[in-house]
Amino acid sequence: MRPTIAPFPMARSRRLRRNPAIRDLVREQSLSANDLIWPIFVRDGENMREPVASMPGVERLSVDNAVRAVEDAANLDIPAIALFPYTDDALKTSDCQEAWNPDNLVNRATRAIKAAVPDVSIMLDVALDPYNADGHDGIVRDGIILNDETLVALERQALVQADAGADILGPSDMMDGRIGYIRQALEQNDFPDTLIMAYSAKYASAFYGPFRDAVGATGALIGDKKTYQMDSGNSDEALREVARDIREGADMVMVKPGMPYLDVCQRVSAEFGVPTFAYQVSGEYAMISAAGQNGWIDLEKAMMESLLAFKRAGCAGVLTYFAPEVARLLQE
Ligand code: PBG
Repeated sequence: MRPTIAPFPMARSRRLRRNPAIRDLVREQSLSANDLIWPIFVRDGENMREPVASMPGVERLSVDNAVRAVEDAANLDIPAIALFPYTDDALKTSDCQEAWNPDNLVNRATRAIKAAVPDVSIMLDVALDPYNADGHDGIVRDGIILNDETLVALERQALVQADAGADILGPSDMMDGRIGYIRQALEQNDFPDTLIMAYSAKYASAFYGPFRDAVGATGALIGDKKTYQMDSGNSDEALREVARDIREGADMVMVKPGMPYLDVCQRVSAEFGVPTFAYQVSGEYAMISAAGQNGWIDLEKAMMESLLAFKRAGCAGVLTYFAPEVARLLQE
């Protein structure tokens, strides 16, 4: 659409900016707490809160404290939480079997949260990296990340997560065929209502650094994830990935990271019209937080502006570690 504009001075763009009431009236996009998914990190133990050094304000929470955090989220009208486990090194193996232990940390946390706060949706990552002695998202043999063997493991992981009560599964490992595999398993095992938010366009990114600290994966990973996560030069390829995930049964799709890939968010949402989400990842959070802490930018304003950008780019919502702060500000 090409807007028609009268010549100056019949048209003066500044008329529409002259005061807050007019600006509020004509604003095209807005942010609400309903747009937010809050990722939280869980750990073993009781009454534990452990700060994540590279993510100021973010803590790893024991399950009891995670339940309390989700109660806060419910009071702030945050509709969904994503849970990520900090896994003890002793539980990491090359076959990743802790991933499909029905009583592993995220499954226990999901049960406890669903019992206490049933109305908040729980999203779980379907990926092997927290449980893999090799640090990768796929099963590794002779230095190769195996696609089809990994699918078998993902299916087992997805089914125990659905059984624990996860509302949304987030396959995040970029193995080929995973969405179809998981969707079919859910249908065949009586989980027809479990949603899938596919991490469809997930790039091999330097912006995940603080997350790998938070989940204790930094030490294990040898090499990089470039044989499965996308190359940052590509966006036509993102459209192919999204098309395929939709055809395989994804209900929602995601672009990750967020801000460096806003163009991809825009293309995906415009092209497919399925609910498209962005993940404002740990590195984005760390940058905005660090600059804010130093007094180099206004933290609150930069946070709100960075999130409104995703709505402008066509996203239905955003995964962000800022979720509770944003929701609190929006409530004021
Ligand atoms: C793992 C996973 C990652 C993130 C979410 N799920 C890291 C990775 O792919 O290495 C990153 C999230 C963030 O940086 O905030 N499958």
